[in-house]
Amino acid sequence: MNKLKIGVLVSGGGTNLQAIIDACREGNIPGEIAVVISNRKEAYALERAKKNKIEALYIDRKAFISNRDYAQRLAEEMDKRGVELVCLAGFLLLIDPFLIVKYKNKIMNIHPALLPAFGGKGMYGKNVHRAVLEYGCKVSGVTVHFINEKYDRGAIILQKTVNVLDNDTVDSLSSRILAEEHKIYVQAIRLFAEKKLDIKGRKVRIIDK
Ligand code: GAR
Repeated sequence: MNKLKIGVLVSGGGTNLQAIIDACREGNIPGEIAVVISNRKEAYALERAKKNKIEALYIDRKAFISNRDYAQRLAEEMDKRGVELVCLAGFLLLIDPFLIVKYKNKIMNIHPALLPAFGGKGMYGKNVHRAVLEYGCKVSGVTVHFINEKYDRGAIILQKTVNVLDNDTVDSLSSRILAEEHKIYVQAIRLFAEKKLDIKGRKVRIIDK
């Protein structure tokens, strides 16, 4: 089987990127990362890519007139390298409809809560965990989903719950959730690479083969 070519878009530390790098190297994902693109120059994720001899590009949104122009440039870079699946791993810019149409059901995102709760504008990273704790939730978790035109509302691929403890802080909850993110993202990408995701509208069925 040919290796799936993956493009990873990042903005930050890149621990999910690292989990994908490790899984590709160890054979837990039958794929390889063709390119990592960051919208932030100082994102540590770029270093992680370079250390693993993966092409790492910094492309600044501010250098483009519109979101669409920026999206076209991202697509150009990914097309050049034959990317078949785009993984958002802590990428904090809104995905332009141009990319959503071009890579229909081929852009995945990981979100650190159980969508559709605690998603939408402003809900990223620690903001999500803070909101979950302030609300008094007893469970939170992780969602891997495809991207559609509605922010954080695309078809759900996998979810995993994580209990919220009475003495949890934003940091303690976020680190337990992050550990689950690393496992579930790898699992979702592997299922995609093995063509085991059957997508019908909002429903993603995992095919047992
Ligand atoms: C992760 O927790 C990811 O779920 C979150 O950003 C963090 C990135 O960490 N994404 C969102 O909140 C998207 N709405 P990482 O750079 O260490 O992978």
